Amino acid sequence: MGNLRDRIAARIRASGPITFADFMEAALFDANDGYYMTRASLGFEGDYFTSPDLGPAFGRALARGVADLWSRMGRPPVWDLVEAGAGRGILMRDLLSALERERSDAARGVRPAIVEVSPRMRRQQSLALEGRDLRWASVAHSLAPIQGVLFANEVLDAFPVHVLTRTSEGVRELFVGEESGALVEVLRAPSQDLRWRVPESVPVGGRWEISPAAEGWVASLAGALVSGYIIFVDYGGQEADLLTRDGAGTVRGFVRHRLVADPLAEPGRHDLTASVDFTAIRRAAEGAGFRFAGSGTQRDMLLALGIREATARPPAPIEQLRAASRRSAIDALLDPNGLGAFRVVCFAKDAPTDGLRIFGATSATGSMR
Ligand SMILES: C[S@@+](CC[C@H](N)C(=O)[O-])C[C@H]1O[C@@H](n2cnc3c(N)ncnc32)[C@H](O)[C@@H]1O
Repeated sequence: MGNLRDRIAARIRASGPITFADFMEAALFDANDGYYMTRASLGFEGDYFTSPDLGPAFGRALARGVADLWSRMGRPPVWDLVEAGAGRGILMRDLLSALERERSDAARGVRPAIVEVSPRMRRQQSLALEGRDLRWASVAHSLAPIQGVLFANEVLDAFPVHVLTRTSEGVRELFVGEESGALVEVLRAPSQDLRWRVPESVPVGGRWEISPAAEGWVASLAGALVSGYIIFVDYGGQEADLLTRDGAGTVRGFVRHRLVADPLAEPGRHDLTASVDFTAIRRAAEGAGFRFAGSGTQRDMLLALGIREATARPPAPIEQLRAASRRSAIDALLDPNGLGAFRVVCFAKDAPTDGLRIFGATSATGSMR
């Protein structure tokens, strides 16, 4: 059967170049060899780390935000807390523990669930969440009707993107072809009616990525969530922010914390990701019936949720060391040039959009402090 690269090359030889989106779909989600299905390795020991890998402070802060959303929903006695794309399950674990510790009123009726496509990730999640009563599904619709909060940290960036480029002859799409056994970039007429979505200001030679898969997935959540909120945290920006970048496109791969030189060379052996176009995500969410409830940076959200609360200096030196290490993890989560610059976006359905604590509102009922 050969490895994934050989199988993709054989497919191209048989029926011609494939879109970069199809290549990325296979590289990440091929059932036998896709990165997330077979070898995804997250955390400091793995290929890349995410906010929850820096310790429980992220989950704890998010628990405060989620408890506030539960209050804004009118404190339903039973409600759903769903994480989509839960990686190693650490965030859900930290969030549930913090909720139980600090907001037993909200924790009492919570029904936790995870939407996860990768059996490998599910196994890691069930270890992290051992002993908890939790539902798993591969699509949100299987959990419907969801009444509560669905969140996804660094998931939208894993959806396949079509890569378009402006040439002197017009807009072309990046396909993956094969040449003497190597996978190479080939430009062709766009595979779908996507050329109109390339902003006028993308210069000749510039690239623009579009993810109908991510947009369709966000829209599909509207069919599953009957009331409550969805929250996305990810790198990316509004269309205007993305346009100010150098036009080289944002697709990249990481292996053991290093950028992969050629994202086509070894599909399935490393992660592939692209910055999220939050303008397109908002359009998709609103088109599906969600109401925009706010957006901000991860830094502002975490500060609003009291991540830097003052604590007394511990007397024992070992405790002082631990406290210093927690502080430096929090600094990394807030770094305006790193994780702190990630975007947080929230949409609501049949729930209030004003006064949300994740965007800095102070609410008498939602306080955890
Ligand atoms: C970049 S990891 C982020 C993991 C975790 N949220 C974190 O912050 O560490 C992406 C996760 O999303 C999952 N995933 C990707 N596409 C998905 C989809 N369509 N539905 C559900 N999960 C998905 C992957 O298997 C993986 O667990």
